[in-house]
Amino acid sequence: MKADVLLGLQWGDEGKGKLVDVLTPKYDVVARFQGGPNAGHTLEFNNIKHITHNIPSGIFRDKSINLIGNGVVLDPITFRAEINAILRLGVDLKDRLKVSKKAHLIMPTHRILDAASEASKGQTKIGSTLRGIGPTYMDKTGRNGLRVGDIISQSFHDKYNFLTKKHQEILKQYNYEYDLKEYEEGWFEGIEAIKNFELVDSEYLINTFLNEGKTVLAEGAQGTMLDIDFGSYPFVTSSNTICAGACTGLGISPHKIGEVMGVFKAYCTRVGSGPFPSEQNNEVGESLRRYGGEFGATTGRPRRCGWLDLPMLKYAIMINGTTQLMMTKADVLSHFDTIRVCTAYRHNNQITDQLPFDINTPIEPVYTEIKSWKPDLTGIRKSNELPAELMNYVRFIEKNTGIPVKIIGVGAGREQFIELN
Ligand code: GDP
Ligand code: IMO
Ligand code: MG
Repeated sequence: MKADVLLGLQWGDEGKGKLVDVLTPKYDVVARFQGGPNAGHTLEFNNIKHITHNIPSGIFRDKSINLIGNGVVLDPITFRAEINAILRLGVDLKDRLKVSKKAHLIMPTHRILDAASEASKGQTKIGSTLRGIGPTYMDKTGRNGLRVGDIISQSFHDKYNFLTKKHQEILKQYNYEYDLKEYEEGWFEGIEAIKNFELVDSEYLINTFLNEGKTVLAEGAQGTMLDIDFGSYPFVTSSNTICAGACTGLGISPHKIGEVMGVFKAYCTRVGSGPFPSEQNNEVGESLRRYGGEFGATTGRPRRCGWLDLPMLKYAIMINGTTQLMMTKADVLSHFDTIRVCTAYRHNNQITDQLPFDINTPIEPVYTEIKSWKPDLTGIRKSNELPAELMNYVRFIEKNTGIPVKIIGVGAGREQFIELN
């Protein structure tokens, strides 16, 4: 079998978590391959709203195995809190959640370093979620990091103390006050919580599953425009959020990648700093935020909102080798008479549909106006009941990208989606 990948094509928060939950009954295994608790994936079912951060979004379907892959950076503190919240919902996850020994651990001092670094940047800050993501990946690539497999070793505490001291030396460069004790106790409790789960050589496990004919869904976090190599650098996260990240973050060969499902909102949002060519810093943006409930699932920050950006979507499709599109939040645009789509950019006095190297320089979007759909979509479940204007919008996107839209989201609930043929 080949592993399917589901990932974000914009700046994150496209509705990946909901779709993973929807698709999980078709899969034996759901695996996160990168990122950490900077992710906030919202699932809504049976009047429950749950947000996953470290744990794959397949956890609420009781037949599938959920794997935290080697490419993930795991925070013991938020992991433990998340486990407890899921247990309180009556979900038995002991035998279904497995953690890669090669996943790196976010240490208390990684979080403090993240906060100190952001504070020192002032106006130029990235708008990090302050979960310690950047410093942890820096230690991974700097070959200093602590991994999940280390927690059972005799020398774990020595390694922890050594790296903590090193971080404290670095922190002296910042004029930043911190209280390590505040985090440390919870961190070691979190380490004990991790020990309750099977720690696995996940690359062997996942390849064995694939060889046995089991179905695997790789769940991306963040989005393509936050990718460390191809996103709006430096306003990005510190991992490869793209399809290739599923290969390195799980140990799957590129030959074993099947469908690549790219999720995008019918419009665009971004949380944190950085360029956003089609941003609507006006009444339109406020309406999108209000009707779309656009507030960060991890930090609660208001999301910046704007129109769909087709050059960016095409770029993301190219980088990921996207084979299927999934468009969420179509219901939100029912509140508008007309909508706009950015189809090209005016940059350096030229019209282009390519993202320039420095997308931090002024880019003026060129828009096409499209008639919106008025009916409330939230109760619709069949594709033949969708308004013609919405189908025009879908066909317009398909024509411009060359990729079929397979699913349309019409609400936050588990049932609120429509499959297109
Ligand atoms: P993720 O990080 O990609 O999983 O997305 P988030 O959970 O951070 O943000 C997506 C938000 O949109 C959440 O509040 C979801 O419950 C909600 N959502 C997902 N799909 C839809 C949809 O089709 N319509 C509406 N109205 N909300 C949706
Ligand atoms: P999900 O998986 C939206 C953004 C942050 C910041 C930048 C770097 O829910 O889609 P980091 O904490 O990674 O160092 O922050 O990336 N960011 C996200 N934005 N959704 C996410 O995840 C994000 N994870 C990080 O806001 O701009
Ligand atoms: Mg999110």
